[in-house]
Amino acid sequence: MRRREFLSTSLATAAMSLVPRTSRAADGLVEVLVDEPIGTIAPEIHSHFVEHLGGVVYDGIWVGNNSKIPNIGGIRKDIVDHMRQLQAPVVRWPGGCFADSYNWRDGIGPRDKRPTRTNFWANDPPLWRAPDGPQKYEPNTFGTAEFMRFCQLCGCKPYLAANVRSLSPMDYDQWVEYCNSPAGSTTLAGIRASDGSKDPFNVTYWGIGNESWGCGGDFRPEQYVVEFRRFISWVPNYGLKLRFIASGPGMAIDDPQVNWTRGLFQELVAKNTDLLNRVFGLSLHYYCWTAGKGQSLDFTVEDWYQVLWQSDLMDSLLTKQWLAMGEFDPEHKVKMVVDEWGAWHHGSAIDPRFLFSYVPSLRDALVTGITLDIFNRHADKLAMCNVAQLVNCIHTPFLALEDRFAATTIFHVFDMYQSHKGGQSLRFVSDAPRISYGSNGSFWGLAGSASLHDKTLVITVVNPHVSMARNTEVSLRGASARSCRVTVLTSSDIHAHNDFDNPGAVVPQPEPADVSGPSFVWTFRPASVTKLEIDLA
Ligand code: AHR
Repeated sequence: MRRREFLSTSLATAAMSLVPRTSRAADGLVEVLVDEPIGTIAPEIHSHFVEHLGGVVYDGIWVGNNSKIPNIGGIRKDIVDHMRQLQAPVVRWPGGCFADSYNWRDGIGPRDKRPTRTNFWANDPPLWRAPDGPQKYEPNTFGTAEFMRFCQLCGCKPYLAANVRSLSPMDYDQWVEYCNSPAGSTTLAGIRASDGSKDPFNVTYWGIGNESWGCGGDFRPEQYVVEFRRFISWVPNYGLKLRFIASGPGMAIDDPQVNWTRGLFQELVAKNTDLLNRVFGLSLHYYCWTAGKGQSLDFTVEDWYQVLWQSDLMDSLLTKQWLAMGEFDPEHKVKMVVDEWGAWHHGSAIDPRFLFSYVPSLRDALVTGITLDIFNRHADKLAMCNVAQLVNCIHTPFLALEDRFAATTIFHVFDMYQSHKGGQSLRFVSDAPRISYGSNGSFWGLAGSASLHDKTLVITVVNPHVSMARNTEVSLRGASARSCRVTVLTSSDIHAHNDFDNPGAVVPQPEPADVSGPSFVWTFRPASVTKLEIDLA
């Protein structure tokens, strides 16, 4: 961003924050239709993703037992503490593209006897040019038992992605056996016990491959379904209900890739429709980015809106996928699982070995708010969503390098939105003047979501405008506010970010709120994510 542009944005923002809250006529509307429920918001839409990619596992999560960095059995304590704060429901592992190159047997048994392998990502040019390390040559120190320990410490459920490209259904069956066979029952249960867990891990979420149209095997949908059937048919379940997730398409801004979905579902129902009862979800991936240089911290106002606009396309992409699924599954037995999403920027890598890492800014906080609001509004269709990826990577809630650690702007939005989890999503209507940007771009002026939790209504709203506050009439159709607590995440600088030098630069702040009744006026700050927690009369 040019200095002049930055200064004018900052000054305008500062001026707007001085505007008394109700002195202007409303230029925005938020309406919550309390008597129009959409569906329960699955807590699992707040789930995460860990891949053996760059600095995610080494040294984001795994620092080793002998490390001076505070750790619990080799696992970075700061991450565990923050994951507990988020009450994160599920973590997906070990990839991503890595999953379809991973032999789970390499990561079991005594750590000092495990083989070192070339990581799937080693040849990616920036990593290839970086110094050698576990990011390039996988030491397998962090294997299934270590991942399970990580999940247990964080209070999360595991979601494992099976290797469909380069392992067989028999290998998959035996991974399930290693994880789930009863204590003392099998040779693999014995190895699991020596790896620290006599009791089974009881893994229920299983992804059958990853991006099977690409790095997961370059399949056509009709070929993939053959593999999918082989993997899920007759797999030992040890009395558990296994939840199989089929590899769906990678959605692009100009193409939801519904042809993959149609091809997959057509073949799923070809033999009989019973197979649909055994598919828990369809995995969908969607990343947004800026055209051009796409730097995470060096961007213009136009880049700001462009990324927010791209993130908002998730809304229509989900609707298009749902319609395509419904052509073959009219009862919608299969739900959507968005198990990779986020803003993928370049630059500001915190270490050259940490492929795809960048420092997220306030812009990425708004991407998070926009996306979680979309997920809430599609609560009836979504079973799980996993932000990519947990630490030192794309759209990352955490940064960690040696003994330094920071919770990013993204973490704080997840924390704020926790209040929606498990609530009843309600129809949410908003309006505000559209924003024009660049030569012909335009973007909505306000959006958000709402959920009901007994007598508490939670509303979250994103104001994307870089400098204009929105004086907004908030109207509760079918309810009346008694009191309200407000939390806002914003900054006068749209490039603001948390990093190792300044980990608390952008944190949510409470705002005094004296509002009541079925409708009231609230001023949503520029470039902000706001949460209103309303006690209903
Ligand atoms: O998250 C990074 C990569 O993006 C994943 O490995 C892959 O599934 C996707 O293409």
